[in-house]
Amino acid sequence: MAEFDLVVRGGTVVTAERTVQADVGVRGGKIVEVGAGLAAGRQEVDARGKLVMPGGIDSHCHVEQKSSAGVMCADDFYSATVAAAFGGTTTIIPFAAQHRGDSITSVVQDYAERAKKSVVDYAFHLIVSDPTPDALNVELPAMVKRGITSLKIYTTYELLRLKDDQVLDVLLAADRERALVMVHAENHEVIQWIARRLLERGHKAPKFHATAHHPIAESEATHRVIALTRILDVPALIVHVSGSDAIETIRSAQTLGAKIHAESCPQYLFLTADDIDRPGLEGAKFCCSPPPRDAASQDAVWRALKDGTIGIYSSDHAPYRYDESGKLPKGDATTFKDMANGVPGIQVRMPLLFSEGVGQGRITLNEFVALTSTNHAQMYGIADRKGTLNVGADADIAIWDPQRELTLTAAMMKDNAGYTPYEGRVVKGWPVQVLVRGQVVVDDGKLLAAKGSGQFVPCGTPAPLAGTRPTRDNAAGAFRRLIDS
Ligand code: URP
Ligand code: ZN
Ligand code: ZN
Repeated sequence: MAEFDLVVRGGTVVTAERTVQADVGVRGGKIVEVGAGLAAGRQEVDARGKLVMPGGIDSHCHVEQKSSAGVMCADDFYSATVAAAFGGTTTIIPFAAQHRGDSITSVVQDYAERAKKSVVDYAFHLIVSDPTPDALNVELPAMVKRGITSLKIYTTYELLRLKDDQVLDVLLAADRERALVMVHAENHEVIQWIARRLLERGHKAPKFHATAHHPIAESEATHRVIALTRILDVPALIVHVSGSDAIETIRSAQTLGAKIHAESCPQYLFLTADDIDRPGLEGAKFCCSPPPRDAASQDAVWRALKDGTIGIYSSDHAPYRYDESGKLPKGDATTFKDMANGVPGIQVRMPLLFSEGVGQGRITLNEFVALTSTNHAQMYGIADRKGTLNVGADADIAIWDPQRELTLTAAMMKDNAGYTPYEGRVVKGWPVQVLVRGQVVVDDGKLLAAKGSGQFVPCGTPAPLAGTRPTRDNAAGAFRRLIDS
């Protein structure tokens, strides 16, 4: 009897910590041995000349989710997870989005049903837009017990944004439950004020989206949210950080000892505001919030990924079609304020970073694995199962051909957006085989997974909240006892 169900043989095994020549033995969907010369498996995957890495974890993507304006995004859990798998991602963490008035419990029930179509594994974050006492004191604890241990809040979007006192309520409740708060930080009133003045002056084109979402509106809200976390001495993760101003704000808070973590995305490395300035309404395809900035901001994001200021690289996949259903709700009369915000990127997130990051010597292979997979697993409390090739982990494996060159086109994208912002870009390095729990999901351009083969992954305590509780025998602790006992 074969000792292994499957052996990935002869590849270069790359994790966040090391690079070794080894075979990977899989049994029962788990990695059971990593070493040279393993015995034959019932199934063998030839990885000679290839890189064998943990499957990616995309911990920020919007799937089968309505925007705050009620627009359903273009992907369901099947199309999004197929696209994820083709790009080397084996776990996604999208959102179960509470809109105002919704019960979190029924929202999560709905998303759990929708996600049954997935072909890769999935967890959930909540989006909390209505932090009532019931939501924070009854529903949130129940969700954490169920394995949903992170939540996103917004300082912008009229129907999602929280006031500062609500942010404090959420931060306090999340810390009590050991849930991690992710924050979309932009100053709503500044954005609205600029947008109003632009529209009054007849400036309607997509490129004015970038003008309205001023970088200082982002860094101001980032600073404010960090200040709120410091008042309570609690952690937070600032998501989709777009450039220099916000990065400087985050870096100085981290230097002061604030428990602030940060995430960025492909659109801030590979697009700029110039992409939004395309003829007609074409620029709408590149509009997301915060918007892509400039070359100096791209450099700042690269530096922050390298020096650890930003530890998480996600897609913020928010797919909307370039038609009335998404980007152009008013057809030719659509202004920059009408378009659905967001860009697709779940399939190309990792190949872009591999090609331009590892290929151009900006990051190492091990840093690539950390930024795309391992750090996500740690951040969201799934590091015992995901983001690693250690014995005992799920056999979620992406086998990359570092020499494979591809030109990105809309036709090769498996998502439903109908376009890619990266059309025509050449990437070198591609995941040619992708395994989820030891099952081959993608084999050289062919989907082998059955709809619904993905499983829910309950998250444990996020790393920023793990470990022993602080004694709080400091000024922040005395303050916490006064306001929270
Ligand atoms: O523009 C974006 N990022 N749209 C998706 C929603 C969000 O704020 O993450
Ligand atoms: Zn956001
Ligand atoms: Zn998002």
